[in-house]
Amino acid sequence: MASVLQNKLVTLCLLALLCFVSTAESTRKGASVPKPCRPNTANIKDFGAVGDGKTSNTAAFKKAVAELAKKGGGMLVIPPGKWLTGPFNLTSHFTLFLDKGAVILASTDMKDYPLIAPLKSYGRGRDEPGPRYSNFIFGSNLTDVVITGNNGTIDGQGQMWWDKYHADQLKYTRGYLFELMYSDNILVSNVTFVNSPSWNLHPVYCKNVIFSGVTVLAPTDSPNTDGIDPDSCTEVRIEDCYVVSGDDCIAIKSGWDEYGIAVAMPSQNISVRRLTCISPTSAVIALGSEMSGGIQNIRIEDVTAINSESGIRIKSGVGRGGFVKNIFLRDMKLYTIKWLFWMTSNYGQHPDDKFDPKALPEVTGINYSNVYAENATMVARLDGLQNDHYKGICISNVTAKMIPSDLPLWNCTNVEGVSNHVTPKPCDLLRDQGPSGKPCAFPTATLAIDKVPITQCPF
Ligand SMILES: *[C@@H]1O[C@H](CO)[C@@H](O)[C@H](O)[C@H]1NC(C)=O
Ligand SMILES: *[C@@H]1O[C@H](CO)[C@@H](O)[C@H](O)[C@H]1NC(C)=O
Ligand SMILES: *[C@@H]1O[C@H](CO)[C@@H](O)[C@H](O)[C@H]1NC(C)=O
Ligand SMILES: *[C@@H]1O[C@H](CO)[C@@H](O)[C@H](O)[C@H]1NC(C)=O
Ligand SMILES: *[C@@H]1O[C@H](CO)[C@@H](O)[C@H](O)[C@H]1NC(C)=O
Ligand SMILES: *[C@@H]1O[C@H](CO)[C@@H](O)[C@H](O)[C@H]1NC(C)=O
Ligand SMILES: *[C@@H]1O[C@H](CO)[C@@H](O)[C@H](O)[C@H]1NC(C)=O
Ligand SMILES: *[C@@H]1O[C@H](CO)[C@@H](O)[C@H](O)[C@H]1NC(C)=O
Ligand SMILES: *[C@@H]1O[C@H](CO)[C@@H](O)[C@H](O)[C@H]1NC(C)=O
Repeated sequence: MASVLQNKLVTLCLLALLCFVSTAESTRKGASVPKPCRPNTANIKDFGAVGDGKTSNTAAFKKAVAELAKKGGGMLVIPPGKWLTGPFNLTSHFTLFLDKGAVILASTDMKDYPLIAPLKSYGRGRDEPGPRYSNFIFGSNLTDVVITGNNGTIDGQGQMWWDKYHADQLKYTRGYLFELMYSDNILVSNVTFVNSPSWNLHPVYCKNVIFSGVTVLAPTDSPNTDGIDPDSCTEVRIEDCYVVSGDDCIAIKSGWDEYGIAVAMPSQNISVRRLTCISPTSAVIALGSEMSGGIQNIRIEDVTAINSESGIRIKSGVGRGGFVKNIFLRDMKLYTIKWLFWMTSNYGQHPDDKFDPKALPEVTGINYSNVYAENATMVARLDGLQNDHYKGICISNVTAKMIPSDLPLWNCTNVEGVSNHVTPKPCDLLRDQGPSGKPCAFPTATLAIDKVPITQCPF
């Protein structure tokens, strides 16, 4: 293994900025500089694991992480093979490295999935009231966590969960394939996630998170298999990812109705770039519907989608409260799309009947530019609320080639904004500024997380 590691294995040093931040902190505390390149390395085989796809390796995974945790962290290498296991938790200063041909298979025995508490900002499980089944790979209150490798695979074997979900046989909410909660300095790169029971990648209440070169694949008819869902997170970068999903490719969230309002942790300072998406029944990029803690300062650029339902969709409703503001999108190409742009103010779906009907979302400062679509059904459906208009919308340089349809090209209600250089001609509520109209601005200053280089370091 050591030679494999030396030759092939170039794993990722954490983020210079994050190193810098922790260094500064450690220096203050007089501790040593963190070593993201992990001096301690262990192989899952050292813990008796068998990669035959049949033997349950739950004990081996738990022991491996616990042993490394005792040493203050380290790297766990998963070699080629099929490593079946129940859910397991990660630790801090830890790298999970999946070599080429390594597949971690999630157990399909429901007894392996303990119940865990619902998220505070949701008040209950997303599918069902009460607790939820454990996520497959999970961690809470961690720092400096990396999942990477030579594009190995984490397979949730979700079919069992999807079947039970469709047959209404689940008493509790399905787990996510990977969830980190209250954690910071996270890197997920060069790894493939497939067949999640529900959402794939779910950082929640996290800070400084990078997803780079990640592939997420789920059947396009699988229920709620969102790709990457930053939820109440700050400083997140999603780049060079490829997502095929039965739901949204990327969904930025921040809690649900009165629970999200009480927790009040926005999702903010997030950049998504060079995304490729297939999501025939849902959005390429969704903001919400759970947005009660607020969503702000989001930059999305260089997105290509094939066969998706909406290009960018803001989902909200009465009772959500919160805000969606300062949202910037540019350079999106959509091939076969129902709506390029969709804003919904009547999404429904409440955790319970205790939501405040006066809690209305504030949606403002939305700039979309340089969007090209072929085989589009409608350009946009933009619905604000009568007593809560969605405002400050700017749409520029859009060309949509439409398929014949009886539906209107634009359907706008209770929205206010401007447009220019948009074909087909926008609805009147987006006042056309004519040929001299200015492009909708995109921020020039980069986010802190954008400046973080991903360096590779040999072991
Ligand atoms: C993971 O940690 C959580 C607490 O953060 C705990 O409830 C859960 O049982 C642990 N899961 C496993 C599989 O050990
Ligand atoms: C994890 O962090 C949250 C937020 O800081 C805190 O409320 C919680 O007590 C922490 N949990 C543990 C187990 O340390
Ligand atoms: C990602 O994995 C592929 C496939 O093994 C490998 O060729 C490539 O070098 C890896 N890239 C990075 C950045 O580690
Ligand atoms: C990783 O594997 C997935 C699934 O096989 C593939 O679609 C993707 O192109 C691979 N990525 C890299 C960097 O090799
Ligand atoms: C978000 O980014 C802006 C720069 O665009 C910065 O001024 C602000 O401090 C950041 N917010 C947080 C919470 O990091
Ligand atoms: C308009 O958008 C297209 C992509 O659809 C892009 O190629 C072009 O450069 C943009 N024009 C301007 C003036 O930004
Ligand atoms: C155009 O979109 C329709 C569905 O909206 C689809 O059936 C058809 O295959 C698409 N055509 C092309 C060329 O992508
Ligand atoms: C247009 O928008 C209105 C208000 O949201 C809605 O009731 C109607 O169904 C929409 N029509 C189409 C064709 O989308
Ligand atoms: C969107 O672009 C327009 C035109 O450049 C600009 O006036 C507006 O301030 C921009 N919106 C935001 C939220 O920056």
